[in-house]
This record gives sequence, structure tokens and C-alpha cells, in this order.
Amino acid sequence: MRISEKPLAARLKELGVELHAGVSLSEKTSLGIGGTTDELVLRRFDTIPEVMRLLADEKIPHRFLGGGTNVLIDDGELPWVVLHLPTSQPGMRVEGNAAYVDAAADLGGMVTFCAKRDLGGMEGLIGVPGSVGGALRMNAGAYGTQIGSYVREVELYRAATGEIETVRGNDIRFDYRHTSFAPDDVMLRVKLELPSKPFKEILAGIKVCNEKRRASQPLNQKSAGCIFKNPPGGSAGRMIDELGLKGHRAGDAMVSDRHANFFINAGKASCADMLRLIDDVRERVRVRYGVELENEVILWKN
Ligand code: EPU
Repeated sequence: MRISEKPLAARLKELGVELHAGVSLSEKTSLGIGGTTDELVLRRFDTIPEVMRLLADEKIPHRFLGGGTNVLIDDGELPWVVLHLPTSQPGMRVEGNAAYVDAAADLGGMVTFCAKRDLGGMEGLIGVPGSVGGALRMNAGAYGTQIGSYVREVELYRAATGEIETVRGNDIRFDYRHTSFAPDDVMLRVKLELPSKPFKEILAGIKVCNEKRRASQPLNQKSAGCIFKNPPGGSAGRMIDELGLKGHRAGDAMVSDRHANFFINAGKASCADMLRLIDDVRERVRVRYGVELENEVILWKN
């Protein structure tokens, strides 16, 4: 979707929005997959309602992209513009046991920032790539930690009302890789409440998680983390592995040799390659185990 030539572009610029024309989203995602569109970088939270109204008036479809680490984006010319949220530097501050963090801030950066201020609990999240906003939306988790456990307040743009609102943690449901946020809610900032813990102790926990992750996950390859959610009581990675599918390919999309629930871009994989591989593996698991695996990766395709 190209808007840089439209009159709307000038109005957006007045609101401090940066417009980048014809950006390849393959450069913005950890899978290295994604077509081309115009990108808008918002610089101020308070302009978001106005920017959203302008886009709605002009009927310009849009999507917010966070860290790009859990998303599979379609190939070719994309039918929506992509929006990025602002973050101040470092985008986080601590007051007592509370941490206030911008949604666009880096998740791992937040864990270490808090650790240095003797606030722990989130050690398991250290190697999870992506932004704080993406982690909130999906209730990201690893090694027994889920971000939702620490959320006290979320400031968000609610598309349903067109306003910026603050929602209390108790009013949000955080389940396994799922939350009760509306699909078009946009996370802006979060307040977390974290347990006090000496930095040294947190660091030791972080080291353990890093080692476990390095031993079992393909960290140096292009992936979106786990492709499927684990079915209740089961492990998608173990099932795919038992089917002998490590190294199995569709074009340049490949089941990782290291962890079978990680699908990697082993060269110039397209979204179509990745979707063929996902469907193929899902079908084999269904036939062998009678289990219908659900995507964990978020698919951006019209
Ligand atoms: N396993 C295999 N073969 C494989 C992969 C795993 O046999 O190729 C076995 C392991 O030996 C283990 C079991 O399956 O007995 C579970 O594996 P693992 O401990 O790696 O955990 P997982 O369930 O596959 C989950 C999360 C990861 C998270 C890890 C660590 C999901 C879908 N995945 O993986 O999250 O990092 O636990 O807590 O919930 C992600 O969300 O993208 C992600 C990577």
C-alpha cells in the first residue's frame, strides 16, 4: 500500500509521523520474510488517535509491527501500511518495585534493566526476542515465566473507542500464549510489579536460562521461534521430531535440525514456502497423532 504520494502524507508529516516509502518487511522480521509497503514511524503517543482517524477517513488499512519476531508476513506488494510505535530512550524506568516500560522497548533489554535495579522474576524471558508490546499481546513465556504474571497496568490505544485508555492488570486475562486484548488494541506502555532480588541472583538465573536455550534452540538462524503452540499436555517439537521431520523442507523453509518446532528460513524462503511447510507438518501430525496443531506464529496475509 503506497500513500507517500497522497495528500494524507503531508498531514501525517505535520503530526510528526515519519514516512518511509517502499520498505521491504523482510528486513524487519526475524524470519527474513515479508513483502513491501510504506512504513509510518509514529513519534508521539498523543498523536496516535489523530493518525488513526486520518487513516480510517482515507480507508487506509494498517497494521502495527513490533519486534517482528513472531510474525509471518505475506510476499509481494502488501495491502496495508505498517506502523511503528515511538520509544523514548531507554523507554523504561523503575520506581520502587514498579517498572514503567514503553511497548516498543526491547524485551530482553527490559529484563536486564530491571535486574540491574534488583528487580527479578523475569529471568526466563531473557532470550525471548522481540518488543515488550508483542510479548504482552501474546503473553510471552519461557522457562516457567510469563510476562502476564507481573502486569499491573497497560496503557493502550483502543480502536473500538478511538481513545488512549489505561487497563488494570486484573481486568486482563493472560492465558498460554493468549490474552483478552482485542485484536485491534495497540499496546503503548506497561506498568509491571516485580519482586526484589539481588542482581547477582538474577544474573545466575539468567545464565541458566541462556544455557538451556543455547543448547536446544537454533539461535543463529532466521526463525520466528516456535511455529506451533504446544497442544494441551503435549509438545509440538517432540511430535514433529518423532516424525523424523528435522531438516524437512518446502523450498527454503526448513524444519530446524536443532528444535523441530522452529522453522527456519534457510536461504530465500518466501511466505508461500513457509505456509506450505506449516500445512505439510500440521497434516502429518494430524494423521499420526490425531492432534490439530495451532499456529503460534501470527500470520499477516489477506
Ligand atoms: N523435544 C524433542 N525434539 C525437539 C524439540 C523438543 O524431542 O526437536 C522435546 C524436548 O526434549 C522436551 C520437550 O520436547 O522434552 C519440550 O521441549 P522444550 O523444552 O524445548 O520446550 P518446548 O515446549 O518445545 C516451550 C516454548 C518455547 C520456550 C521453551 C522453554 C511453546 C510453543 N514453546 O518450547 O517458546 O522457549 O518452552 O520454556 O510454548 C516460543 O514461544 O516461540 C518459544 C520458543
